[in-house]
Amino acid sequence: MTEVRAERPLIEVVGLTKVYRVGVETIRALNGLDLAIERNEMVAIMGSSGSGKSTLMNMLGCLDRPTAGRYLLNGRDVSAMDAKELAQVRNEEIGFVFQSFELLPRQTALENVELPLIYARGGWRGRKKRALAALDRVGLLDRVDHRPNQLSGGQRQRVAIARAILNTPSILLADEPTGNLDSATTTEILSLFRQLHAEGQTVIIVTHEDEVASHCHRVVRLRDGRVLSDLAIQQDIAGRHLRANIAGKAAH
Ligand SMILES: Nc1ncnc2c1ncn2[C@@H]1O[C@H](COP(=O)(O)OP(=O)(O)OP(=O)(O)O)[C@@H](O)[C@H]1O
Ligand SMILES: [Mg+2]
Repeated sequence: MTEVRAERPLIEVVGLTKVYRVGVETIRALNGLDLAIERNEMVAIMGSSGSGKSTLMNMLGCLDRPTAGRYLLNGRDVSAMDAKELAQVRNEEIGFVFQSFELLPRQTALENVELPLIYARGGWRGRKKRALAALDRVGLLDRVDHRPNQLSGGQRQRVAIARAILNTPSILLADEPTGNLDSATTTEILSLFRQLHAEGQTVIIVTHEDEVASHCHRVVRLRDGRVLSDLAIQQDIAGRHLRANIAGKAAH
């Protein structure tokens, strides 16, 4: 008889703690946080300023290591890795999108998207083709030679998303990706995230906006470095989100 084993979640975080020391002060940015995220979820992380959202994203994205607690990514214990191993995991598994786009100002859209391939194993081969394919996925083939200051905010964020998905990461992490965008552009960027999610991408978005969270399937709220609430967003039979649900139920 073959053993039936349930697949592990993509992300398993147990007792995650991050303590910062600034002078004599000790700040518990994360305070024993537990969280599990399955493959192909689309999750919003919410919570007031200082609740630990960006710190959590930095840990999930292997940019930094926790002070205590465990983080299993794809079943591998990331919390025990050294800086070199972390960098490799980051390269292979993580795509980042930030509020301020973080593009190099003198490089074209194409050159910005090619950047992660410099660090990827054997990735320099066929780089242009891969970068163009990523720009095509975000609908920017007609702007590949533009520099960031020749692009709109929404287009800049598309370049950043193309760069983030280039290495086909396991997780796409976005920290307030629409924080600098107007509402029409926000909707445009969100539909891009939803498209990537529909194609199988796991997406985690930090946001202050209920509108942004309502596009996700689950809303995790943080307070004082812990999970305050964790709600699934219901969908109607047509698969549309019941948006009123989140504004009413998730707010504390
Ligand atoms: N590098 C650091 N050194 C010291 N303290 C830090 C550092 N990064 C964050 N903190 C502190 O940790 C706490 C959580 O910060 P974090 O940036 O995770 O909050 P956030 O939920 O992302 O807030 P916001 O919504 O304002 O972006 C805050 O009290 C912050 O001051
Ligand atoms: Mg933040």
